Amino acid sequence: MAYQEVSVKQLYRNPQQWLSKQVELSGWLRQNRSQKELAFIAFNDGSFYTNVQIVAPNTLSNFDTVAKVTTGSTIRVRGVFQESTGAGQGHEIIADQIEILGLADSSNPIQNKRHSMEFLRTIPHLRVRTNTFMAVFRVRSLLAHAIHSFFQDRGFVYVHTPIITSADAEGAGEMFRVTTIEPRGHKTDKQGNIKWQRELLGKRTYLTVSGQLNVETFCTAFRNVYTFGPTFRAENSNTPRHASEFWMIEPEISFGDLNVNMDLAEDMTKFMIQYLLDHASEEMDFFNTRIDTGLLLRLENIVKSDFARITYTEAIDLLQKSGKNFEFPPEWGVDLQTEHERFLAEETFQKPVFVTDYPKTIKAFYMRRNEDGKTVRAMDMLVPGVGELIGGSQREERLDVLLASMEENGIAPEEYKPYVDLRRFGTFEHSGFGLGFERAMMYMTGMKNIRDVIPYPRTPKNVFF
Ligand code: 4AD
Ligand code: MG
Repeated sequence: MAYQEVSVKQLYRNPQQWLSKQVELSGWLRQNRSQKELAFIAFNDGSFYTNVQIVAPNTLSNFDTVAKVTTGSTIRVRGVFQESTGAGQGHEIIADQIEILGLADSSNPIQNKRHSMEFLRTIPHLRVRTNTFMAVFRVRSLLAHAIHSFFQDRGFVYVHTPIITSADAEGAGEMFRVTTIEPRGHKTDKQGNIKWQRELLGKRTYLTVSGQLNVETFCTAFRNVYTFGPTFRAENSNTPRHASEFWMIEPEISFGDLNVNMDLAEDMTKFMIQYLLDHASEEMDFFNTRIDTGLLLRLENIVKSDFARITYTEAIDLLQKSGKNFEFPPEWGVDLQTEHERFLAEETFQKPVFVTDYPKTIKAFYMRRNEDGKTVRAMDMLVPGVGELIGGSQREERLDVLLASMEENGIAPEEYKPYVDLRRFGTFEHSGFGLGFERAMMYMTGMKNIRDVIPYPRTPKNVFF
């Protein structure tokens, strides 16, 4: 008799088509509740969030073995798909045959019980088999797709910016070094300067902190471009929202000022949320009930609302007048702390808010100078629960002003020649921003720690596999 190979997703999306049919599935046993006459197996094949129940009758030739199959084991099931006789259980498969392909040792740390997030962080290779992480990583995949759809549908060209670089895009010095030379193997000249030309790449190199400078030069040809890839920060920040390796989406738009830039950021954020509501309803329901009650209501409201927009100067004023006792007192000229960002987004506006026109002294060299001589055309988008989700700016397109800013920031224009060339060979107004992909994941799933939305998190003093 012919059993038809099928996925759990196909069964659940179209149960009528499969009723009373002989089906075959391969996948993993999540839970085994066996009784004398029947074994009830919660089964998942990775195609769908929800498990399907397999009912194994004791007439199976290997019933004694089946009844003892452990959580995590790989099995192949042949049986008949039908409506469940148990109350409120939907559908099930009555097994004719269960083949045990790979038995999981009973020392498998993932068992059918509640594990703490902290414990699961110690086993990233196994935590992916739990409900929470199945939901997180499927949503992560869908969200990446949503971002590409958003930009591709709007004619943006995807640029693969380099991961190894010789330039510090943010000018903040938070770079991981890339070298093939052993720690004490560097040769020096008579003055004691390291001979970087002996490096395999012939230069002192780093892992990139941002693809911005490279993607910016591509907007001079394609008009609207974006990069989406891994970025690295060697800052020693041990917080729930900083990682040493994270993914960033960085669009760059020609002939657009800071307002156009903010419109794009707002549209993109809403598009991402709507995409998840439309394409990941099982996972989003799970987050809403088990991780962050009220998540769905909040996200649905955000899609409908206009994000707030204030200047940095107004933000400082609001914070100072709030009467709130901050750990770091807000003061003009000092960068906003997470507590300030969250206060503005969570209490003042209760929705995403753009803060613009920061003091030039706390922002990167490439941001466009305002007429006041003190501030730059920067914008950060702050969201409830996370704080800064997006950082961007209108870029300084005036050659002389850019060179002056580089000098003020101690940056040698020779090292940034390709970047400066953009202003030399046909300059124009342009803007862009960077969205932290993991922060977007946290915001849209309600997960509280960046370590729990990236498959193998890299954070200070932590690399597993
Ligand atoms: O504000 P940042 O540093 O901006 C840039 O890198 C610009 N070059 C972007 C641009 O204009 N093209 O970083 C952008 C975003 C932040 O808003 C935050 O969401 C995320 O990247 N981010 C981090 N996410 C996780 N861990 C870290 N250590 C992060 N640092 C920044
Ligand atoms: Mg920033």
